[in-house]
Amino acid sequence: MATKTTVIVLASLLIGLSAAQRQDQDDPCKTKSKVVGDVTYCDRYWECVNNQAELYDCPNGLVFAGKHRGVTEGCDYPWRSDYCEGKQLANGPISTEHCDWLYGIFGHETSCTRYWTCWNGTATEQLCIGGLLYNENAHSCDWPENVDGCQKHPLCNDDANGNVPLGKSCNRYWQCQGGYPRLQRCPAMLVFDRRSLRCVVPPTEDCDVPTTPLPFEGDLEQGKGNAISNLPPGAIQGKPSGGRNKN
Ligand SMILES: *[C@@H]1O[C@H](CO)[C@@H](O)[C@H](O)[C@H]1NC(C)=O
Repeated sequence: MATKTTVIVLASLLIGLSAAQRQDQDDPCKTKSKVVGDVTYCDRYWECVNNQAELYDCPNGLVFAGKHRGVTEGCDYPWRSDYCEGKQLANGPISTEHCDWLYGIFGHETSCTRYWTCWNGTATEQLCIGGLLYNENAHSCDWPENVDGCQKHPLCNDDANGNVPLGKSCNRYWQCQGGYPRLQRCPAMLVFDRRSLRCVVPPTEDCDVPTTPLPFEGDLEQGKGNAISNLPPGAIQGKPSGGRNKN
């Protein structure tokens, strides 16, 4: 009997303790902004509507950041700040094709140079340009050396620190740096010589004296066909809807 009482007393003591430690929910109707984050769940917030506190969920994949903050409805991508420190998520992921959550930025299934931005479950393919790769931790394009698990590009296989012609371009080329290709352009009035693999004074076998430099897309048009497979595909600036082959 005595032990039972002790247990009950202890239990109520513990409950009392945790209740005292628990932070109380702010009333949004008593704040200037009329919106406050939920005290337990980082993906929920309270809004004062007609003098009543109403509970809302952030769009799936987002967490509460504050009124007029974040990407939509006061909600933001969770990795942008420590929004969820000491809090839980009330909602699990709702996934669609390419999207782990309805809103967010997600890695590509097969490519290191592409990624998906998802808005309400609709995925848009994005490309990293200029030899950058998608970094899942940073949720953005990054230097290859910062991206684990993505292979160095085969076009740098012959010489990890050499130059490689870019299609038939006369002024653009790839500069391999430790096996990672970086897009480069020869200084004005010089052309890339595919024999010496350097920028030289024209003319060369393939390149006359440049008139106006070609835009990059022009280079790509020239480089289509066999040369296109010579590029890290993500380095190509293109439209997400474009009909280019997946790499
Ligand atoms: C999100 O998409 C659903 C249908 O897929 C639609 O009913 C809803 O209105 C959309 N929400 C927003 C905020 O666009």
